[in-house]
Amino acid sequence: MSELGEHTPVEPLPVPSPAPVRVALLGCGTVGAEVVRLLQEQADDLAARVGATVELAGVAVRRPHRHPEVPASLLTTDAATLVASDVDVVVEVIGGIEPARTLLLDALRAGKSVVTANKALLASHAAELFAAADASGADLYFEAAVAGAIPLIRPLRESLAGDRITRVMGIVNGTTNYILSAMDATGSGYAEVLEEATALGYAEADPTADVDGYDAAAKAAILASLAFHTRVTAADVYREGISTVTAADVAAAKEIGRTVKLLAICEREVDTGEDGEPVESVSVRVHPAMVPRSHPLAGVGGAFNAVFVEAEAAGQLMFYGQGAGGAPTASAVLGDLVAVARNRVMGGRGPRESAYADLPVRPMGRTRTRYYIALDVADKPGVLTQVAAVFAEHGVSIASVRQEGRDGADVGEDGLANLVVITHSAPDAALRSTVDKLAGLPVVREVVSVMRVEGEAP
Ligand code: HSE
Repeated sequence: MSELGEHTPVEPLPVPSPAPVRVALLGCGTVGAEVVRLLQEQADDLAARVGATVELAGVAVRRPHRHPEVPASLLTTDAATLVASDVDVVVEVIGGIEPARTLLLDALRAGKSVVTANKALLASHAAELFAAADASGADLYFEAAVAGAIPLIRPLRESLAGDRITRVMGIVNGTTNYILSAMDATGSGYAEVLEEATALGYAEADPTADVDGYDAAAKAAILASLAFHTRVTAADVYREGISTVTAADVAAAKEIGRTVKLLAICEREVDTGEDGEPVESVSVRVHPAMVPRSHPLAGVGGAFNAVFVEAEAAGQLMFYGQGAGGAPTASAVLGDLVAVARNRVMGGRGPRESAYADLPVRPMGRTRTRYYIALDVADKPGVLTQVAAVFAEHGVSIASVRQEGRDGADVGEDGLANLVVITHSAPDAALRSTVDKLAGLPVVREVVSVMRVEGEAP
């Protein structure tokens, strides 16, 4: 007999098994088909991780006959009715603004959790989606919207929620990274490499969204919003694509120990206000830049993505992996699906929108950058002084100058020199004005190349 007396053994009460989590899938392209496959193949593991069966309730597509991999009984062309049916979670991989926006707002208003890979929608309509999620207490997860398989949204939203992020800089578009890496490796021009990338399936038939930087700008807006607790939309992002990057730019970068990358850069900037108090703002931009070949981002080749995050306490972090493709993106979708399904089974909610900091977005002209400028100039006395005077006039400090004589057919009486200037950081508008003024100097024969320089001390 124990001190506490005899106990009659009590049979544990049977635990009711939780109802299945019913999932509506909107869209069944490359990513959606992988989501269906993984849901089927990993059903037992997913059930164990969630604590309930995850059941695919329906798949909305435009042309059902194109999806033999999905059981016919699940296919529908009526996405709105599927969303309104007895489902707990809506997974959206359609892309674009409408009908995705209306469908997801309907789902969230009805208290259904949403998992989406839709960067364009989040970069333009995040505020109303989050408001709908808050009103009903539903979850809104979007790991797959930025950098495919790479866990990046959750680290920014959750793991680093106790830190202060100062900078996010990354390669978030695989198509352009493939093109720039190939230009660097082969010395070929942009058009030639784009053609090859299209033939190999690395570039879309219409590559505009990628090569003109729209895709990266949407991702930058999402990253900046999370990093700085501020609403940033794609319209706030300064954007330049890669179609003007020449073989000569890439060769010049190589010559000075750098490589050209299309970067998405989100920075917290601090100025001193008139009253001496610090004034914070954020700058968000996408443009090609020369980065030192020793920088971790320089080694990111092919269609891979990588994002470098700097935070006050954590220091430097780097996230690297596959930024696109069916299976990698489906991995991120499934991770979110497990999280929202678990929240429903266990009770609780994922993170809400955090936009309390509400920092102003700094215009590009006032953002401090560094330029690489290559000029062909007349090789005669006083030219360097004239060129240096233009920099001084615009308040731009020169970090380094290199001059080489240039042989050429038409060098004129004075001969021609190639002058390469790298500046210290200065407001972008001042750097642009400097280049414009240099282009008009009689001693400058040609502005050969201009590109921003990133990834090194200012
Ligand atoms: N088109 C994108 C890329 C993938 O090339 O990285 C989807 O965002």
